[in-house]
Amino acid sequence: MAEETITLEVTRYRPGHDREPRLQAFQVPYRKDWVVLDALNYIKDCVDGTLAYRWSCRMGVCASCGKMVNGVTKLTCAAFLRDSRPGPIRVEPLANFPVVRDLVISLDDFMEKLRRVKPWIIREKEKPVAEGEYLQTPAQLDLYKQFSMCINCMLCYAACPVYGLHPAFIGPAAIALGYRYNLDSRDEGYRLRQPILAEAVGVWECTFVGECSVVCPKGVDPAAAIQRSKVAGTKDWFLSFLLPWGGRQKAEKR
Ligand code: SF4
Ligand code: FES
Repeated sequence: MAEETITLEVTRYRPGHDREPRLQAFQVPYRKDWVVLDALNYIKDCVDGTLAYRWSCRMGVCASCGKMVNGVTKLTCAAFLRDSRPGPIRVEPLANFPVVRDLVISLDDFMEKLRRVKPWIIREKEKPVAEGEYLQTPAQLDLYKQFSMCINCMLCYAACPVYGLHPAFIGPAAIALGYRYNLDSRDEGYRLRQPILAEAVGVWECTFVGECSVVCPKGVDPAAAIQRSKVAGTKDWFLSFLLPWGGRQKAEKR
């Protein structure tokens, strides 16, 4: 019996060489336990070794395999061929990002935005290591835990129409990560971080479409982080008349 196959239509593009992206069709074996990434690896290994795309872990952790699959943002290591039968399956680079080659996008803009929101614990004064860890209760951990599950896959940016229209927008994941550290009881960086989240291209750019939270493969809710940061920014504005920054931060963490 002839082997069952399925068609993948894959973007091919070399900026500076090709006039525009085009779709190239490949027949790949159909296996019910194969994901789109397996099909791309088959093409690379057995049909055309010049196909360019990123992947690493094959288990939804490294965040590098995100693509548009039939127009929807997906981690290709978690997108089963069987869910797109009978095909064809269109595989394109993540939307809203410049393409380096074929399915590979440039991470530069996202990395710069991530750096800007200072996604690390900031202390006004570090205590000596000999004095031990900064302890935290389970309730304090619960406050920010879901936002710490972000793997930086950028699916939320590809799904965000605001980022598509206004690339200066800091965007869902970077804001969610900044918010995560603002909520952390060990952090004292609110007054350095919040003004960046609250600037014009920060939370106020968001029109609350909410797609970022819908497409997130890790159950993070960036839309909530953005809306709550808007509330925090508004409270700051009122409290700025009543309290100095230090008082504001203590009020936020209580
Ligand atoms: S918030 Fe979700 S979709 Fe956005 S980068 Fe993080 S893990 Fe990916
Ligand atoms: S290959 Fe690592 S998340 Fe898909």
